[in-house]
Amino acid sequence: MNFELSEEHLMIQQAARDFARTECLPGVIERDEKMQFPREQIMKLADLGFLGMMVSQEYGGAGLDTISYVLAMEEISKIDASVSVCMSVNNSLVCYGLEAYGTEEQKQKYLTPLAQGKKNDELYIGAFLLSEPEAGSDATSQRTTAEDKGDHYVLNGTKNWITNGGTASVYLVIAQTDVAKGPKGINVFIVEKSWPGVVVAAKENKLGIRASDTHTILFNDVKVPKENRIGEDGFGFKFAMKTLAGGRIGIASQALGIASGAYELSLKYSKERKAFGTEISNHQAIAFKLADMATRIEAARLLCMQAAFDKDQKKDYTLSSSMAKVYASETAMWTTVEAVQIHGGYGFVKEYHVERLMRDAKITQIYEGTSEVQRIVISRSILK
Ligand code: CAA
Repeated sequence: MNFELSEEHLMIQQAARDFARTECLPGVIERDEKMQFPREQIMKLADLGFLGMMVSQEYGGAGLDTISYVLAMEEISKIDASVSVCMSVNNSLVCYGLEAYGTEEQKQKYLTPLAQGKKNDELYIGAFLLSEPEAGSDATSQRTTAEDKGDHYVLNGTKNWITNGGTASVYLVIAQTDVAKGPKGINVFIVEKSWPGVVVAAKENKLGIRASDTHTILFNDVKVPKENRIGEDGFGFKFAMKTLAGGRIGIASQALGIASGAYELSLKYSKERKAFGTEISNHQAIAFKLADMATRIEAARLLCMQAAFDKDQKKDYTLSSSMAKVYASETAMWTTVEAVQIHGGYGFVKEYHVERLMRDAKITQIYEGTSEVQRIVISRSILK
């Protein structure tokens, strides 16, 4: 067993760290406050090859492994989780789904520009549309329908909480094609945002990851060519579950980064701030919090790496990705609350960053499967 990162991994980690500090840190507080999508930062991520990190070079990707993705996600999430969620959705849910299950034509037409993050020098990213007003954790209860009309489908329904909803050019839409067949009557379609009947509705005003672009999307009689269905008829739910297993590695790494960012800020602050005649890090009340943060973060990192390793080795990673996500997201929430406490009054104001990290941490326990859903996946796996 070897826990060392390779030279290439260290280079990617450093590139992501530099990108986060030089491109994401400036303006991060303002973007959060104004709910301003980090377009410039995402365009630069595209230039770095970080929007299609694991896509093979044949389809415009960087051809890197999942370990590299975890490293990059952690570094960027330390500074700006709104940037990293956009990156995670494009990489794990959109590009992966297309590369693993798309046809050659679908890959040429959609995957290549999505992996590059650009088309004709314009931003070109994707979104994953599974959640609905009444289908969140209970993802098989899809109400969006796609009616088979021979050479095309007609799509109707409402999707919500859609990351990249307003900025994406391409949507992967999960919809019911045959209610009687239950989960086997669900399909997934590639839908272009510009098509008639696609409506980008309300933008959410969120607690955290406020600069990311989250919308409700409506479909009113949208004509979808049959060649835009991914996989065999009825493959949609399995597609969603398989793709989400990889997505959970991305969100686990995001949570890991949020926790590490809060920990690093707390470590620095506790060595500078004096109280009762000494730096607060000299008080056990603070030192023990830092010890617990460091320990939990290291455990979360190992779980993320295990899941990434399983995926790279082509082993089943459903269990390890859910374990990584539930543990890393709970670590992020706990660590960021403690980070605010260590900073005292300064932790409660925006300039010190930890209050934003605390708000951002919460969503990692909710999206791409709540902590409760992860426990369903884990318990089913260990009990079967
Ligand atoms: N891999 C492959 N197939 C799977 C699977 C997996 N991991 N999990 C389930 N399936 C299959 C089952 O085998 C079953 O098929 P068979 O009948 O052939 O056996 C079918 O799918 C239905 O499975 P279940 O009966 O287990 O389904 P369930 O209703 O009990 O759901 C669940 C299980 C784990 C709770 C699932 O619904 C789930 O993961 N829910 C959470 C959804 C989620 O993560 N949403 C996130 C939205 S996307 C997002 O947040 C992105 C963003 O913008 C940031």
